Amino acid sequence: MKKLYTLIVVLFTLISSQTTRADEGMWIPALLTDNYSEMQRLGLVLTPDQIYDINKSSMKDAIVRLGSGFCTGEVISSQGLILTNHHCGYSAIQKLSTTTANHLKNGFWAKTKKDELPAGFSVSFLVKIVDITEDILADVTDENRGKLIAEHSSAVRKELSDSGAYAVDIKEMFSGNKYFAYVYETFGDVRLVGTPPESVGKYGGDTDNWMWPRHTGDFSMFRVYASKDNKATKDYAEDNIPYTPKHHLPVSTKGVDKGDFAMIWGFPGSTDRYLSSFGVRNATEIDQPARVKIRRAKLDVYEKYQKRDEAVDLMYAAKHAQVANYWKYFMGQTRGLKRLDIEGKKRGEEAAFDKWVNSGDQARKDKYGNVLSMYKDAYAVYDAKKLAETYWMEAIYGIEFTKYGFGFSRLSSMYAMQAAEKDKDKKVQMQSQIDGMVQRIKASTEGNFKDYYAPIDQEVMVAMLDYYMNDLSADMRPVAFNDMIAKYKGNTVAMAEKLFECSILVDQDRVMKFLDNPSAKKLKKDIGVKFSGIMLDFYLNGIRAMFAEADQKRATADRLYKAALFQMHPDKAFAPDANSSMRFTYGQVLDYSPGDAMQYKHFTTMKGVIEKYQPGDDEFDLPTGYLDVAKSKNYGDYAKEGEDLRICFLTNNDITGGNSGSPVINGNGELIGLAFDGNWEAMSGDIAFEPELQRTISVDIRYVLWCIDKLAGAKHIVDEMTLAR
Ligand code: ARG
Repeated sequence: MKKLYTLIVVLFTLISSQTTRADEGMWIPALLTDNYSEMQRLGLVLTPDQIYDINKSSMKDAIVRLGSGFCTGEVISSQGLILTNHHCGYSAIQKLSTTTANHLKNGFWAKTKKDELPAGFSVSFLVKIVDITEDILADVTDENRGKLIAEHSSAVRKELSDSGAYAVDIKEMFSGNKYFAYVYETFGDVRLVGTPPESVGKYGGDTDNWMWPRHTGDFSMFRVYASKDNKATKDYAEDNIPYTPKHHLPVSTKGVDKGDFAMIWGFPGSTDRYLSSFGVRNATEIDQPARVKIRRAKLDVYEKYQKRDEAVDLMYAAKHAQVANYWKYFMGQTRGLKRLDIEGKKRGEEAAFDKWVNSGDQARKDKYGNVLSMYKDAYAVYDAKKLAETYWMEAIYGIEFTKYGFGFSRLSSMYAMQAAEKDKDKKVQMQSQIDGMVQRIKASTEGNFKDYYAPIDQEVMVAMLDYYMNDLSADMRPVAFNDMIAKYKGNTVAMAEKLFECSILVDQDRVMKFLDNPSAKKLKKDIGVKFSGIMLDFYLNGIRAMFAEADQKRATADRLYKAALFQMHPDKAFAPDANSSMRFTYGQVLDYSPGDAMQYKHFTTMKGVIEKYQPGDDEFDLPTGYLDVAKSKNYGDYAKEGEDLRICFLTNNDITGGNSGSPVINGNGELIGLAFDGNWEAMSGDIAFEPELQRTISVDIRYVLWCIDKLAGAKHIVDEMTLAR
């Protein structure tokens, strides 16, 4: 274990001979030196230790993970000011909004720090990254793999957590060929500082989502709070003070030009760049079309009710955005994968791999000879049964009723176990676990019902169960569910009616009354809790069992395939798939051609905002007063002399979901923009990166500043920043 600390030093002094490239690659910060010379060539001025240093303050200290990685943020003032996307702050802003104080709709800027509002999520700073591959894989064999890795992981976690001060996130890279420990410090007191109105922050709505050209002011601002001695606190505390960060990013008003160096730091969630041809086929033919169809049905129900009532509209704003974002994503991804024939390309790569295996010695053949047949076997199972899981995730889990019921069904099982227990002491012990569970459900109940509208959920349930019944064969559904629906002669409307009428799960008062006086009997009788329990059990047992063998085969094949790629291309630097750990990507500000005869510019301007404007429209409206401010052309320092105000721009950086809110940083370490999306022509990007097509869409930091200063009149926030002119 001592190796850990020396290893880090070795990593930094290691001069790599591997060739890296700009564009593709979400690189590990601790291995920065591998990419450094290429970055320098492209225009990076900072030294490696100004960027990533675990002993003194460096740029990485200004990058934060939101929650457990739903988005990224960056520190941009000495008073803990955090910038992220509007769509990242969206749910927090919605929860802080009412129809009378509708911050989501009208925007919000705290006049003083006292006016900043508890956001309800935490942020984490990266302390260090440690290569723990040797520790994790010591003495691991095919037989003891899972067990030994789990043991080694908990030892590493213990050693690096500094007695619980830090959270240690162990990340498997390259399907188990490498392991890194990410050590974080988490701050639980984060407050909303400001947001533009939704019409600016989500300008273009679902129509423009995932597309270029874009004119969205996708930003919102928060502040990290700490105790009086600048320490992290677990929760909000009234007398906490603004956190003094180790580093904050200077903000550049100098602007960006085509060819400029740009790097992005953040927390990309997941990519599948090494997916097999079998996997691509399964995704495009089976999984994704189902997801698109089910999500559309959910959205139709939401929208029907949202249109009728402002309060309901607000309640379902974040839920709608979440479902819609990946509805369009999967639609675009299937289309992109097919258009670029990614399945065919992968088949080509697999053929090259096969040739390499067969041209090698017996040891190579023994080790890698079965990889492709393992994929084939695994995908035979996935192709036949994948929809059991897809429909569970999208349709069953998409009914709020089911999800909320899980806690109750767990509680019901706990009661049953307690009743079966003979030992008195154990019974008492179990009671305290039961009490704990009741408290946890209680704690989540207000939040659940704040944004719950039962008529929507009931109609969603019918739509979801209709698909569940019509699209899946009976063996892909739980037997107990099949029995239940048979009692209603397959009539989903009748079943939903009954559940919503009889179960406590749809009514906050009834739930609270039950939780004040919980009883096993009542739970057992509740048909909604029963339904939810059947579904939970099917996921945990039925579906897992269905795929256990296939998953095992696929995991082994993945690990071997990647190991083989390293051997096949010893001079190539491979980047690991995204996995919600801090990464960086570097490249340039760049335009692209979306198709034959077409060329897209690398930036958009205020002219385009105004061209797209449609008064009263859901997606292309603008806030009152916006046009006047825009037309006054009072751009101050935020536009170059004689130029229109820049809104968004493009780079060829490699990002994905989770990177939202990530800083786009120039060669001097200054903030030039805020990443928020990818482009339609490269929606296949999470599975295959296309350098000619794939672009990151960012909001120009100068538009952000203009929105705060000129549009909202919150200049005091801009004054907090360190502007680099
Ligand atoms: N596509 C963006 C992402 O996944 C989210 C954009 C949010 N905007 C919207 N119109 N829904 O990061």
